[in-house]
Amino acid sequence: MTPVENSTIGIVGAGAMGQGIAQIAAVAGYAVRLMDIDAAARTRAVENISAILNKLSSKGKLEAADVTTALGRIQTVGAVSELSECNLVVEAIVERLDVKRSLFAQLEDVVREDAVLVSNTSSLSITAIAAGCRRPDRVAGFHFFNPVPLMKVVEIVRGLQSSNQTIEYLVAIAGRFGHKAVECRDMPGFIVNHAGRALNTEGLRIVQEGVTDEKTVDEIVREQMGFRMGPFELLDLTGLDVSHPVMESIYRQFYDEPRFRPSPITAIRLAGGVLGRKSGSGFYGYDNGAKILPPSQSPLESAPVANQPVWVSSRHADEGRLVRDLLQSFGVEIEDGTTPTERALIVVTPLGEDATSCAVSEKLDATRLIAIDTLLGLDRGVRRVIMPTPATQEEVVGRVKTLFSMDGTPVSIIRDSGGFVAQRIVASIVNTACEIAQQRIASPEHIDEAVRLGLGYPLGPLAFGGRIGAQRILTVLKGLLAVYADPRYRPGVWLSRRASLGLPLTMID
Ligand code: NAI
Repeated sequence: MTPVENSTIGIVGAGAMGQGIAQIAAVAGYAVRLMDIDAAARTRAVENISAILNKLSSKGKLEAADVTTALGRIQTVGAVSELSECNLVVEAIVERLDVKRSLFAQLEDVVREDAVLVSNTSSLSITAIAAGCRRPDRVAGFHFFNPVPLMKVVEIVRGLQSSNQTIEYLVAIAGRFGHKAVECRDMPGFIVNHAGRALNTEGLRIVQEGVTDEKTVDEIVREQMGFRMGPFELLDLTGLDVSHPVMESIYRQFYDEPRFRPSPITAIRLAGGVLGRKSGSGFYGYDNGAKILPPSQSPLESAPVANQPVWVSSRHADEGRLVRDLLQSFGVEIEDGTTPTERALIVVTPLGEDATSCAVSEKLDATRLIAIDTLLGLDRGVRRVIMPTPATQEEVVGRVKTLFSMDGTPVSIIRDSGGFVAQRIVASIVNTACEIAQQRIASPEHIDEAVRLGLGYPLGPLAFGGRIGAQRILTVLKGLLAVYADPRYRPGVWLSRRASLGLPLTMID
């Protein structure tokens, strides 16, 4: 087997990714041969790595002597033939199958018999790259994230013919780099780009449906769901020139899977060159890199609370109790009856349904009815989201907003939506991760780790689903399916079986 400790690592492509990989390999003690056809790119790469390592040293994170030693381990080369001594070659050149295949063929002609060849591709099939090789068993994917030294996870992608030895070697090397290795099968998007579909596509879907504006979706995702960034902030950061083609490509590669359906919103923006931060404006405006917040589009504001009791539906018993307890803690009068009196404000707590279906199915007066999202609890400081039916009086909306802000917690008002904002995004994220597990693309543990480290979600999606409860996620999806009749919301069998049997979402069968 190829030695893990004394390997010489070749890196082809000294761009953003190649530089990062060269840096972590050299710091981990490996001899690095950094190859690029462009001499200027080679020089730039070494300058950049040197600047980063010196900065780390000035912050006390690296000894000055270690910087010199690490830089001394990196040798730049201009031709594939100079990679003949390498035990491992990492390809990080342009994202084109024909160019990568031709490079792998050249590499096979020069490297040792036991050398491992990997691609850092994020969107091409590893099996397709390996198909041009004489020895596809020693080819695999080694997919790092940008910036490589900070994103401490790497997807190890098993092509159809990758050998176990190749995969084990890469796992060991990743460990030496200080990166968490997550293994997956060669399927579109691997783990992270597959699991990451739900946040953006569902966020876009919500806005396209007119439920609310982009800023409100982002606020809800950050302040109710606890994510670092909302989908529109993320799209602005990545740029639609990258994100929209990826959305289209993964959708097509899964043969028009409705869960991944892209949005005309991003298609039109891309066509208009409104790409995000890199073009100076996106879903938000930018002034010298600082986000300019658009004014809130919600026409509804708080209204004074009249001396009016509140009746809370018990259709979902736990959710109803949560609302009653909160309002009682504010001193609000709660009606106890099985039906509301004529005077009462009516609050419902749907899971997946919209406010209108609740009014209809529970035979309640829609003009006095408001729904509140309880999926993630109603803790103080965690943004609350309420939604009226199209028939709810504006005054009622204002009053209910005032009630739910009585402890200073921010409240967003959205238009009627199956599953509000958080329920439909959370359920889509969990359902997508369950589908990755069901298809045996990766283990539940690696799915959660890949998403947490690669996408920065506060919890892995299966752990998140477990915390909320598989049964509740299933209820949300069934509600969404009933409201929209769109197969994108169909629950996968991994989720529905585990929810029905009371098993954890991480359980492998
Ligand atoms: P880049 O454009 O910054 O750098 C590519 C480098 O490869 C350039 O310096 C170019 O001169 C060199 N190059 C092109 N063809 C070559 C050849 N035949 N032989 C030797 N050198 C060649 O690209 P970047 O962003 O570093 O991406 C590289 C690969 O990593 C792509 O496959 C990309 O899909 C993948 N990737 C990129 C990520 C990112 O965020 N930038 C994230 C994960 C993967």
